[in-house]
Amino acid sequence: MLAIRIATLDDASLLATIGTETFSATFAADNTPENMALYLAASFSPEKQAAELAEVDSFFLIAEKGTIPVGYAMLKRGSTEACISSAHPIELVRFYVRAPWQGQGVGAALMQACLAEAARLGGDGLWLGVWERNPRAIRFYQKWGFVRVGTHIFQMGDDPQIDWVMERQIGPNTREG
Ligand SMILES: CC(C)(COP(=O)(O)OP(=O)(O)OC[C@H]1O[C@@H](n2cnc3c(N)ncnc32)[C@H](O)[C@@H]1OP(=O)(O)O)[C@@H](O)C(=O)NCCC(=O)NCCS
Repeated sequence: MLAIRIATLDDASLLATIGTETFSATFAADNTPENMALYLAASFSPEKQAAELAEVDSFFLIAEKGTIPVGYAMLKRGSTEACISSAHPIELVRFYVRAPWQGQGVGAALMQACLAEAARLGGDGLWLGVWERNPRAIRFYQKWGFVRVGTHIFQMGDDPQIDWVMERQIGPNTREG
């Protein structure tokens, strides 16, 4: 049975672990060990996730199958970029389903929960950056109604990578998955 819950301050270690594990599983094959190590150290630690959990405009949703945490999403209210057209944008900063549970609808349930949470936060649009070399995630986001509205550089260690910036509206007239 899959359930989605709001994270608490006690979840910092869990978020750091899932982030490290899923980012490594997804991107290690296409990046140097040095760049991976730099990025992981800067992005995922209990201290870093504790600081993010304490931010007033950041929100985390955790997906659990029974007692097993299987993925999480991070939303940020008010974050925007030049190519984003929403008046009240929410950024989908992180969206991770742990490898053994991918392809089983966890991402769909988590995305549905993100859209509901973003609407609850007053957002009229959800946007994200996704590496141009992550076709599975791009397909997933396209299926969920996100369209490419621009690009930005994602600095991965010493490698400036191109992310697609994708956005979708939140509202009654948009397709849900
Ligand atoms: C991209 C990602 C979030 C998608 O999550 P997911 O849980 O695998 O997504 P879903 O299972 O809901 O859907 C994915 C696919 O599985 C299929 N699927 C859904 N339920 C399924 C089931 N019960 N059995 C088999 N396949 C299923 C969907 O039809 C979909 O097909 P598609 O690949 O043709 O689009 C996930 O793969 C992931 O975390 N990847 C690694 C991290 C990452 O890249 N994050 C995004 C960074 S921007």
